[in-house]
Amino acid sequence: MNRQIISEPGAPTVSERESKRQAFQLRCIGCGNMGGTPTKNLRCADCADLLEVIYPGWKHSAGMQSASALKALWKQRRTSLVPLDESGVWRFREVLPNLANENDAITLREGNTPLYSMPQCAGKAGVETLFAKHQGMNPTGSFKDTGMTMAASIALQEGFRWVACASTGNTSASMAAYASRGGMRGLVLIPEGQISWSKLSQALDYGAVTCQLKTDFDGCVKVLNQVVLEMPVYLLNSVNPYRLEGQKTAAIELLEQLNWESPDHVIVPGGNLANSSALGKAFLEMKDLGFISSLPKVSIIQAEGANPLVRTVRENAGQKLISVRAETMATAIRIGSPASWKKAVRVLEATGGTVEQVSEAEIALAKAEIGAEGIGCEPASAVTLAGLKKLVKQGFVKPHETVILILTGHLLKDPDFTLKFHRGDLFPEKDAAILAQQRAPLVLEPSPKAVIEVLEKIGN
Ligand code: F0G
Repeated sequence: MNRQIISEPGAPTVSERESKRQAFQLRCIGCGNMGGTPTKNLRCADCADLLEVIYPGWKHSAGMQSASALKALWKQRRTSLVPLDESGVWRFREVLPNLANENDAITLREGNTPLYSMPQCAGKAGVETLFAKHQGMNPTGSFKDTGMTMAASIALQEGFRWVACASTGNTSASMAAYASRGGMRGLVLIPEGQISWSKLSQALDYGAVTCQLKTDFDGCVKVLNQVVLEMPVYLLNSVNPYRLEGQKTAAIELLEQLNWESPDHVIVPGGNLANSSALGKAFLEMKDLGFISSLPKVSIIQAEGANPLVRTVRENAGQKLISVRAETMATAIRIGSPASWKKAVRVLEATGGTVEQVSEAEIALAKAEIGAEGIGCEPASAVTLAGLKKLVKQGFVKPHETVILILTGHLLKDPDFTLKFHRGDLFPEKDAAILAQQRAPLVLEPSPKAVIEVLEKIGN
């Protein structure tokens, strides 16, 4: 496998690229080092901590327009037919890493996802105003696409032939698609038997080399970290700081949809903790640049069986990660040792958010309630509603406050879970709230009479 430099005819030279790239830098979140060459694992060469993208002096740069001018420009791009403008990520390119050659941008027209009002779920949770920002409405069905368009484009710009990730399913589906669109090869490591068939089928169909390892997600990460040291493969896991830059745009777009009025609370599922970190970074940057005057509180919800952040915050005051052996039916967030935990703790502190954990039954119930609203999502996304119910009961979220749930994956990502729930196979015990949400398919004789009887029995 050779590292092959892909360049467009007429593309800028390396020195032209370097000068254009001055607009952003990588900084270590641990020792603060800037500008050093990262390790192949995309960590700080000095202290091995994670890196983040910063934009030194962007407020003062000649290219940076005022917040009101950018708000108008971003809105105007929604009617443009230019591919980069049609993307709900690249539409915001003034606050993202700039590509030296815009032809390197690999886009499936990600982002631009809907913000839905959720009146029924609001009632269940005990708040007046509840919205869902549905990141499952992205091209491959999850929020991963917003980060992948950015980081895969950087890989292409850097001249990589191969990109790789370890995944609980959604990253692999997204990476496989973007790698192929960019003419690169994709290598996927997934835990055998622990991801949904729907996500696995995506990685296969989009053309990735897909390896099922007999371990869990955390084990896959360890293996991949070794592979990238030895092979010319670009790491597209969420330690990749460019992934977070793309994922930031969901928060920017959300603010735009709310007419640049910050909500009181944003509630995010927590797995490897990159998404909560990215959204928090966006809110902080938007405040810093004068787009908004107040910050939403960003709170992170985990499954009880995969709760390393909850334990780290409660037992260690966020100082030192407590890893766990993760177990949950919400397989997307079955992660025991989250890479971005420090970034997430920083977001909790900076925005005044909190952490909460929810049971398997609470997740399943919340998922069916989101489904009954005509919206639907995958199990990992439903932790947000389940967590909100608890935060309202605790008084952390007040009934009159505006709350946004970040739904991270589409309903069709995990059909097995959904079918088992509605058929009554997921939980043997007869919990009344769960029974009330179960909508098992009815098997009938092929006659109008049989169907009409059903309608008459149900009534209004
Ligand atoms: N929701 C869904 C649907 C996910 O797929 C993930 C993560 C998360 C929430 C958690 O986001 O990791 O940024 O805290 N999925 C990764 C994957 C790990 O490999 O697809 P996070």
